[in-house]
Amino acid sequence: MRRRPLFAANWKMNKTPAQASDYVANFWAAAEALASRADIVLCAPFVDLETLRVALEPSSVRVGGQDCFWEPAGAYTGEISAAMLAAMKVTYCIVGHSERRRLFGETDETVAKKTAALVRAGLTPIVCVGETLEEKQQGATAARVRAQIEAGLGAMSDEERASLVIAYEPVWAIGTGLADDPASANETIGIIRAAAGGLDRARVVYGGSMSADNARAFCAQPNIDGGLVGSASLDPRGFIGLIQNGLSGMAKG
Ligand code: PGA
Repeated sequence: MRRRPLFAANWKMNKTPAQASDYVANFWAAAEALASRADIVLCAPFVDLETLRVALEPSSVRVGGQDCFWEPAGAYTGEISAAMLAAMKVTYCIVGHSERRRLFGETDETVAKKTAALVRAGLTPIVCVGETLEEKQQGATAARVRAQIEAGLGAMSDEERASLVIAYEPVWAIGTGLADDPASANETIGIIRAAAGGLDRARVVYGGSMSADNARAFCAQPNIDGGLVGSASLDPRGFIGLIQNGLSGMAKG
């Protein structure tokens, strides 16, 4: 049986609260029409979360963060805890995105601590893994994603692992317009599903230049449960079109 599809927007460092509010006005009715078939999540900058909480209260669209710190509270200037996100009715949070690994020093160890903190606070982590171009060229993709999954989730129970979302995002495909080949992404996700004691029940989505044009082909692959979408999520109508195409791919897949 197909796992429940999930499409998450990753707005990254884009959209003020006023822009987030405009987005929702052009998004929620069409998103609501799709919500019986997929979980739809907007992962937004911290400053937009309250606007989204209020604007999306009557809808099934969920709000996500893009990062968190692993301690619940304390002297950690500039940080936001998983418990704080939970208090704002945020239900998902991206962790270990490659931009955070590359630009802000995230490691497999810090990703593991953040993932555990999110689970403790009752949020669903969207754990990002993926190889760099260099690792791909060296034929090290399988080893890299396996190591990231094992470091990040090794200590979790079966039930906790089943509730996670994993995003397979080849680093070289992010924001470049050069998406992976769907069959190759499906194969790598098969490796991810076999890691850390088995992730058959967890949802695994693809990310990296997913677009309305290629969503159908990715989502027709049996291991791919949806997308984590950056650039193509910034326009509300474009993101709706991508979700519709992805769902039609799953219906065929
Ligand atoms: P992209 O970003 O869709 O713009 O490639 C995806 C991501 O970074 O999550």
